[in-house]
Parts: sequence; structure tokens; C-alpha cells
Amino acid sequence: MQLNNKSEFITSHKFKKIKEPTDEEFNLFRELVLKDLGLEWGEDKKYLLYARVQRILQTNQLENFQSYYDYIEQSENKKELQDLYNAVTTTKSGFFREKQHFKFLRENVFPEMKKYKNNRYSKLRFWSAGCSSGEETYTLAMEAHDFFGTAMISNGGLRILGSDVNTGVLELATNGSYSEEQIITIPDSLKKRFFIPMPVGNNNTQRKINREVQKIIQFRQFNLMAEDYPIATKFQLIFCRNLLYYLHPDKREYLLKKLVDHLETGGWLVLGITETGYKVEGMKKLAFSIYQKN
Ligand SMILES: C[S@@+](CC[C@H](N)C(=O)[O-])C[C@H]1O[C@@H](n2cnc3c(N)ncnc32)[C@H](O)[C@@H]1O
Repeated sequence: MQLNNKSEFITSHKFKKIKEPTDEEFNLFRELVLKDLGLEWGEDKKYLLYARVQRILQTNQLENFQSYYDYIEQSENKKELQDLYNAVTTTKSGFFREKQHFKFLRENVFPEMKKYKNNRYSKLRFWSAGCSSGEETYTLAMEAHDFFGTAMISNGGLRILGSDVNTGVLELATNGSYSEEQIITIPDSLKKRFFIPMPVGNNNTQRKINREVQKIIQFRQFNLMAEDYPIATKFQLIFCRNLLYYLHPDKREYLLKKLVDHLETGGWLVLGITETGYKVEGMKKLAFSIYQKN
């Protein structure tokens, strides 16, 4: 057998193989993620739990999923629970993902905001709820920057909140560095304007979002299932895409109500393109999972 590197050798010998969770063990975690994060797991998620979490068990030398559950329950700090949240949340994202939404913003939403900029929309506040590693938040920021211009968005004219429950992805978001492959969907003009090339060794380059964009964004960690959010302001625009899909219907309804409450009258709510057919009270549907508050 040929080994590619030393760590592969160490990894394969250091960790004991963990048995897949039994039905009872799976149900413990299924209830926990439903209660805490609102996630709805069918039977098919048993393997997801195993695949994403087994390394945590190995690292902590826990024998099985029951001992892992007890370990979380008995733990005095929140780190163990947070590690579980980080492992089980699905965080796929991308710049200009579902680009119809950004076209709709440019053609319909931003012009309306600009029209009322001296009264109703003098301070623009956007929120990317479930922002993952920041691609959606930065796409919004670049698009708004490009459309409204520096004069309108500087000095507090525009602020964007990106929030997620997963601290791992938020760290990436705050850092704002992406590989060439990750930013391939960004138009060249925006890439040139808003990213700085950063050599990272072995002839590889990452690109880091520049200060001009970074300074209008704040990333914060909180759970959307919480009773109260640490937010004082109301927003004109909320993106909550590709998150509701993973939730239990009751939790989805709960979250949609909270999002609508956090919107200003006349504000826009954007859900994922495939997240259709949900009851969104107090909102008028405009197009591709885009709603406006009555
Ligand atoms: C699939 S990603 C979508 C990212 C981005 N909105 C997009 O469409 O590209 C869903 C994100 O929602 C976050 N999430 C899931 N449940 C959450 C909760 N209860 N509170 C806050 N964030 C949550 C996950 O951590 C993940 O980063």
C-alpha cells in the first residue's frame, strides 16, 4: 500500500471505527435537532448523522452515539452542542446563486428604494438570514454598492446583516477569502472592483473581499428558532433562501412569521427558488419566491 502522506497514515490508525447509530440513538438526535434548530429529519438522515458526526466521537473517544448524546447533555459549556450544530447543518452556498433574484432586485426593488431614498428608504437595512459562508451576503453588498453608488451607501446609508447558527461558516464569512473556483460566478467587473488577490502558497491565489464592501456588513451568530433575536432594527429586504426547506412545517411557519415581523411595511422577503407553496401571511407574492409586505 502506498501512502500519500503521513497524516493519512496517522488518521487511519488512530481512530476507532464507530458503529452507525441505532434507531433509538438516531431518534435522540432527531428530537434534539428538531427542538433546537427546527430541522426535520426523515429516516434517510441516519447516515447523514453518522457521516458528519463520527469524527467528533472519534476525537473524543466516545464509543457510540448514546455516549455522545450523554456527553452533550452533561457538558457544562455550549461548545459540544455548537460542534453538533456545525456538523449537521447543510451549508451549501454560492455567489449569485439563483441569479434571477439579483436581476429582480436590480430591475424592481433597488429602483424603488432609490426613488424613495430621501424619505422612506434613507437608511437601507438588508438581512441575509442563514448566510452560511457569506457568498449571499457579499453578493447583495456588491450588487447594492454597484447600483446605489458610494455616496448613497456610505456613512450608514446601507448596512447588511449576515446571520447563521453555524460558527464554522461564519468564521469563513467574516474572513471573506475565497478561491478562484468559488468566485467564478461573479461578473469580472465586480470581481476586479471588490476583491483583492492574495497569494496563499503553491502558486494558489485566493481573493479577499475588500474593505469597502466588508465595512457595510456585520456577521452575527444566532439561532433563528430563538424566541427573541438580537436585532433592534427593521429591514427593507430579507433574504432567507434554502433554509426553510430543511425545517419542520411548524418551525417553518414560526420562522416565516418572525421574518415578516422584522420587515418594514413595503419591504421584500426573498426565499429560495424551490421554496414555494409556503403560507406567508401578510405578504403579496411578486415573483420567484419573492414577497412584499402589505
Ligand atoms: C443551505 S445554506 C443556504 C445559504 C444561503 N442562504 C444560500 O442560499 O446560498 C442554509 C444555512 O442555514 C443555516 N441554518 C440552518 N438552521 C438554522 C437556524 N435554526 N438558525 C440559523 N441558521 C440556520 C445553516 O447553518 C446554513 O448555513
